[in-house]
Amino acid sequence: MSATLITTNIAKPFLKWAGGKTQLLPEIISRLPQEMKTGEIATYIEPFVGGGAVFFYIVNNFPKIKHFYLCDINQDLVNCYNSIKDSVSELVTELKKLEDSFLSLNQVKRKDFFYFVRDNFNQEKQYIFSPATAAKLIFLNRTCFNGLYRVNRSNKFNVPFGDYKNPTICDDENLEAVSEVLQKAEILCGDFTCCKKHISKRAFVYFDPPYRPISKTASFTSYAREDFSEKDQVRLAEFCALINSIEGKFLLSNSDPKNENPEDHFFEVHYGQIAGFQINRVDAIRAINCIGNKRGAIKELIITNYASRMTSGN
Ligand SMILES: C[S@@+](CC[C@H](N)C(=O)[O-])C[C@H]1O[C@@H](n2cnc3c(N)ncnc32)[C@H](O)[C@@H]1O
Repeated sequence: MSATLITTNIAKPFLKWAGGKTQLLPEIISRLPQEMKTGEIATYIEPFVGGGAVFFYIVNNFPKIKHFYLCDINQDLVNCYNSIKDSVSELVTELKKLEDSFLSLNQVKRKDFFYFVRDNFNQEKQYIFSPATAAKLIFLNRTCFNGLYRVNRSNKFNVPFGDYKNPTICDDENLEAVSEVLQKAEILCGDFTCCKKHISKRAFVYFDPPYRPISKTASFTSYAREDFSEKDQVRLAEFCALINSIEGKFLLSNSDPKNENPEDHFFEVHYGQIAGFQINRVDAIRAINCIGNKRGAIKELIITNYASRMTSGN
């Protein structure tokens, strides 16, 4: 008798996203609170969800977590998540059409097609964000330069064509798996504090804010409409203190300013003074150096309000 092979698709990030946490994932996983496994933590909150690398890991691996709240200030991103959640078949049909049209063209015509879709997307998203608009966002993410999402001051997506040979545009199996796991999630658009009402003793919050610039020479100018300033970093530290006072748990990742300036004590000042907060410095690879082309080992910060040690089995 031959066994039937059952394949279950594991949902994974469907967009390339700046600051994606795939590289740091093992460090984060090893520091998750033990209560995630036992069911004592029943709610997962990710207020800067972006591409959701950590969310997808958690939703696939912690079945005892029942409620997921994802949040991001980027309205287009949130609309895209919600389209996948509610209308995945329609979205996949539209994305396949874009993929077929694009791949049937030569490289010169592909470029024209990209800009045509980009114009369409920018027009459309001002009025209504349909599953077809979400399909355009995914198409642009897959075919634009470096998978960036950047808008100009009029909120128009403005990343140029990426010129890749054979980009994967429509991964329908993954989109369906993503849709399935998103049924457990509420996806909100707004500032990170919008998840406040869901914080409780049984909640775990993972914060991955836009990194604090690591040097004084780093450019503070951003094309994104919403910049994350030093004041926002302080607001975030205060929000972490609030979670702690409610006895919820949090883990926060950020850049380590001491890579560039050992005298920069921002995190020690804003997090190090609270009893029970742990500031861990972990190894990472510098992706882009703002000063030159230097790449290499640097430290990143992982801050928790619980004792975070390597746990086996996760
Ligand atoms: C470093 S990225 C998160 C990357 C994500 N962890 C991943 O794996 O792809 C930071 C995200 O925070 C969002 N963001 C910026 N300012 C915000 C704010 N005030 N409140 C909530 N989200 C914000 C950005 O739109 C971006 O998606």
